[in-house]
Amino acid sequence: MRIAVIGTGYVGLVTGVSLSEIGHHITCIDVNEDKVAKMQNGISPIYEPGLSELMTKNINEKRLSFTTDHQEGLQQAEIVYIAVGTPENIDGSADLSFVAQAAKDIAGNVEHNIIVVTKSTVPVGTNDMIKDIIQTHLPNGLMVEVVSNPEFLKEGSAIHDSFHGDRIVIGADSEHAFSIIEQVNQPFGVPIFKTDIKSAEMIKYASNAFLATKISFINEISNICELLGANIENVSTGMGLDQRIGSQFLKAGIGYGGSCFPKDTKALIQIAGNVEYEFELLKGVVNVNKKQQGILISKLNDCLPVISGKKIAVLGLSFKPNTDDMRESASILVTEELIKQGAKVVAYDPIAMENAKSILNPLVQYADSIEDAVENSDAALILTDWSEIKNVELAVFNKMKKPLVIDGRNCFALKAMENNGIDYHSIGRPV
Ligand code: UGA
Repeated sequence: MRIAVIGTGYVGLVTGVSLSEIGHHITCIDVNEDKVAKMQNGISPIYEPGLSELMTKNINEKRLSFTTDHQEGLQQAEIVYIAVGTPENIDGSADLSFVAQAAKDIAGNVEHNIIVVTKSTVPVGTNDMIKDIIQTHLPNGLMVEVVSNPEFLKEGSAIHDSFHGDRIVIGADSEHAFSIIEQVNQPFGVPIFKTDIKSAEMIKYASNAFLATKISFINEISNICELLGANIENVSTGMGLDQRIGSQFLKAGIGYGGSCFPKDTKALIQIAGNVEYEFELLKGVVNVNKKQQGILISKLNDCLPVISGKKIAVLGLSFKPNTDDMRESASILVTEELIKQGAKVVAYDPIAMENAKSILNPLVQYADSIEDAVENSDAALILTDWSEIKNVELAVFNKMKKPLVIDGRNCFALKAMENNGIDYHSIGRPV
């Protein structure tokens, strides 16, 4: 099928590339000329394992192209995916201006009946709005059908997830739209769940809110474990063995970050508030996360009462491993607070340092390796569980003035750290 994808952020690009890989002809449209020029040459604007390889392959096989020209991209398309951003407004609600603009662009450029599929995360009712905008601006006689098809990909494993996801959700209100979008997705071999449009929109928010709830819940349990002398790793394992609970998303740490959970939890609180429902539980989840992001600073202050003038190594800057994404990463808050307290901050991340330089406080310095970052430091804080960090030789910490490691991701075994003489503080485990 001929498909256009509007927006080549993380969702749009991965969607376009994976649809081309299963045989569709895809044109990705983006207004950013530099970015489009790069993508035409197979260069991915984001770090995502396997993405550049699939881009190059499908460009060469003439199934994938990129353009800044809406008319060129939309004229021939039988289906258009909307995958533009829905950033957070000041009040936490989702900003739908890019979605509305995409709807107008579709209406102004298509020359036949069209199915519009919304991939962007949008509040319940937005697909009705999209349909209204397009139908109002379409030339007389043409018809639009809308489909909600939220994405559940994780950054860092998005390509793998496209082909091995747990479900594809299709929300539509006509048999025609269901059957076309089902055909489009069939080659992925992922189970398809068909439902009404509003429920599909809600499934996306409810899923992210539930996963965020699991994380804040286990983080609170870990804080209580610390006070009582229990070990969160054993508690999580024991809980996860119950299939009703499940073992995933029970890893205690320094809270969730990224472009999705922080934004979507706040948006769902707003969506509920708009219909005069106070989502008390989710408000608690958001507050717990805010507190948890600062937990390493409290631990550091307990160990080193004065950190002014001290060298503090920060290992890991992205919000999770295998991505260079810094959005809502705990490293932003942690480095800011360290600088505020007068520390000399030397950071290291395997991939995210270039992005970090434009986001973190300019006083943060950057090292070329874990070794350089920790050398002569007074403390090392671990913020991201990159495998390079988890697998580092523990002897590296002997290069510190006096080995003091405060680990927000429980990367190391307690015994191993003790055997190496490292003063080690982690999350929810005995010191
Ligand atoms: C999340 C969802 O997992 C995807 O299903 C969804 O499609 C995506 O948001 C989205 O809405 O686009 P992502 O933000 O890539 O994906 O990252 P996750 O792997 O879910 O991790 C989010 C945060 O939670 C990270 O900061 C991670 O460190 C933290 N986390 C995760 C924990 O602290 N503990 C856990 O057990 C799991």
